[in-house]
Amino acid sequence: MLTDPAPTTCAPHLLGLLGRSPVAFVDTPLPHPHGGFHAKVEYLSPGGMKARAAVAMLQAARQRGDLRPGATVVESTSGTLGVGLAFAGQALGHPVVLVVDREIERPMRALLTAYGAVVEQVDRPHPVGGWQQARLDRLHEILARTPDAYWPDQYHNPDNVAGYHALAAELSGQVEAVDVLVCSVGTGGHSAGLARALRRHWPRLRLVGVDTVGSTIFGQPARPRLMRGLGSSIFPRNVDYTAFDEVHWVGPVEAVDTCRRLARSAFVTGGWSTGAVARVAAWISRMQPGARVVTVFPDGPHRYLDSIFDDAYCAAHGLFGPAPGHPIEIPHPNAVEVTRWSRCRTVLDPLRRLAVPA
Ligand SMILES: Cc1ncc(COP(=O)(O)O)c(C=O)c1O
Repeated sequence: MLTDPAPTTCAPHLLGLLGRSPVAFVDTPLPHPHGGFHAKVEYLSPGGMKARAAVAMLQAARQRGDLRPGATVVESTSGTLGVGLAFAGQALGHPVVLVVDREIERPMRALLTAYGAVVEQVDRPHPVGGWQQARLDRLHEILARTPDAYWPDQYHNPDNVAGYHALAAELSGQVEAVDVLVCSVGTGGHSAGLARALRRHWPRLRLVGVDTVGSTIFGQPARPRLMRGLGSSIFPRNVDYTAFDEVHWVGPVEAVDTCRRLARSAFVTGGWSTGAVARVAAWISRMQPGARVVTVFPDGPHRYLDSIFDDAYCAAHGLFGPAPGHPIEIPHPNAVEVTRWSRCRTVLDPLRRLAVPA
């Protein structure tokens, strides 16, 4: 049963804490030596990367009149946007209800509750649409019974994308130039927002998308996924397919290896998406000496102490196997089903491709 959200105060001064995360230079071998890349370390700003999207979505909805003062915000999240919405909800004065699933890490669930959000958990994946569809079904039930409730809909809401323009502005003052931008893709928000804004400074910038094996976003079949944050079992409209020059699918073995290497010798590390983008950024830096490679580390390590950084968890899930140091090249996004780190230089929108008659 849904309990009432904690009474919410409105603390607009919190907005002054948003963003301004530092940039780290990473040159530790991952696993091979490389020339180094820059990483925007988003967990070092309050609310993390998704606080930017959350604030942008709530502020725009308030301006349009879609979100009334004090009304409840309801969203489906695997965790990171939940923290961002908890931040935005406190800053702007909105109770927050978050629909999560059984796979959410225990510390993340505890954190969301500590921040005053009501956490609604679904315990069974949808037979076709997986956890994401199961969460959406529950979300619609909650919306139907909560007066004035607002659903930001991070997967399809363009305000999510716009929330990253400030990140781009910060980056352009923090790095000399960007030749290659490497972004994890979940809703598609930060890759679309950053590429659009940074190409105004550097029009020849190449955008590399990083997805996980078992994700549908770039045209692979949906499979159960261990990696969270990046990847999807639906087709988010915020993914700007035309912006990408290539896509990589990364598996959990190489992500764990990378997160642990980063922790041991670069100090800044994070979760599945951080491990995945760091692996790809290091490889590009090795393959293209002199290219200025920039990426975003979306969150930090704390949420993953019981998974990525836990030996028993990794052993139980077979994550200590040999971690590939190079991707397999595939000619077309659905030429084969990928089960380990793979790369494709053709990027297509799976929905449009399906819509085109053979
Ligand atoms: C930890 C983490 N990394 C990466 C992403 C992907 O970012 P985006 O949704 O902007 O594509 C998400 C999205 O939820 C996330 O939570």
